[in-house]
Amino acid sequence: MKTPSTYYSPLAIGAPAPYRDRPVSLERMIHFVPPHIEKMRAKVPDLIRKVDVVLGNLEDAIPADAKTDARAGFIQMAKENDFGSTGLWTRVNCLNSPWFLDDLLEIVPAVGDKLDVIMLPKVEGAWDIHYLDQLLAQLEARAGLTRPIMIHAILETAEGVKNVEQIAAASPRMHGMSLGPADLAASRGMKTTRVGGGHPDYAVLSDAGISSERTAFQQDLWHYTIGKMVDACLSYGIKPFYGPFGDFSDPLACESQFRNAFLMGCLGAWSLHPTQIDIAKKVYSPDPGEVAFAKKILDAMPDGTGAVMIDGKMQDDATWKQAKVIFDLAKLVATKDSELAEVYGL
Ligand code: GLV
Ligand code: MG
Repeated sequence: MKTPSTYYSPLAIGAPAPYRDRPVSLERMIHFVPPHIEKMRAKVPDLIRKVDVVLGNLEDAIPADAKTDARAGFIQMAKENDFGSTGLWTRVNCLNSPWFLDDLLEIVPAVGDKLDVIMLPKVEGAWDIHYLDQLLAQLEARAGLTRPIMIHAILETAEGVKNVEQIAAASPRMHGMSLGPADLAASRGMKTTRVGGGHPDYAVLSDAGISSERTAFQQDLWHYTIGKMVDACLSYGIKPFYGPFGDFSDPLACESQFRNAFLMGCLGAWSLHPTQIDIAKKVYSPDPGEVAFAKKILDAMPDGTGAVMIDGKMQDDATWKQAKVIFDLAKLVATKDSELAEVYGL
């Protein structure tokens, strides 16, 4: 670990200083675009109005023979559009791939001034972040960038999960991380063939002899990892996200997976299909009833101390803090979404 005095020093002469306070931005859905497909690039102006983050995907799901076209397509879509308050991210290829270096060497000089975040797949430990951190500093210095590009890690290997705290702490450039359930399942040797979500066989059976029929209660396969990721992220002031949900034919299961992650502390999820944009928007914008109740708590305890009863429920300093989490998120949503601002009364 670096000493506190060097933690925030730029890693190359001329590189922008790392953020001490990370930018506050609404990132309910990170929408994946395959940038080698012209028809998809043509939808970007419309997407910018609809989503919180547009991500040009260069890694998995892009065929090997389309990797350079995807990189060029991403640079083109970054140049051609004004993203305003919508985030622009890219998911680069992984560090041991033949494409990673050129992804960085081409994208940073061409559109580094517009790029908010680089999503790095298959992060195994802090050393992966340190390498990208240093490389980005050199490229930023050479390109004369004035704003640091942030790093978002995908938590999708057994070793990465083991090292999640060191990854979160690796650099002030860390934006956050996403759970990658598909690669993680493979890396762990899980016996599934899915991209996220539950599994009917991962269940607890009710005791024998209680009723004539025994009930199987399906459990959340991702509970442990999300909990571990949320604790690591929040300890270091970075943001946790749920990743992809692959069954586009099951919006209810997608909503349930997104919601479990939201309740456990995640701030958004990936949208891989247009129908998942609205699911993520619904789930990751706090419920109006919860926002109204949170406001009651905040109003009843203006300095955040003491104990009061509201609707028969005890409130104290700790519930005040929970209320503040929900109310602050509602205020952030309201800055982007005028319809919800009205529903929230903000
Ligand atoms: C995402 O990249 C995943 O592997 O789930
Ligand atoms: Mg993956």
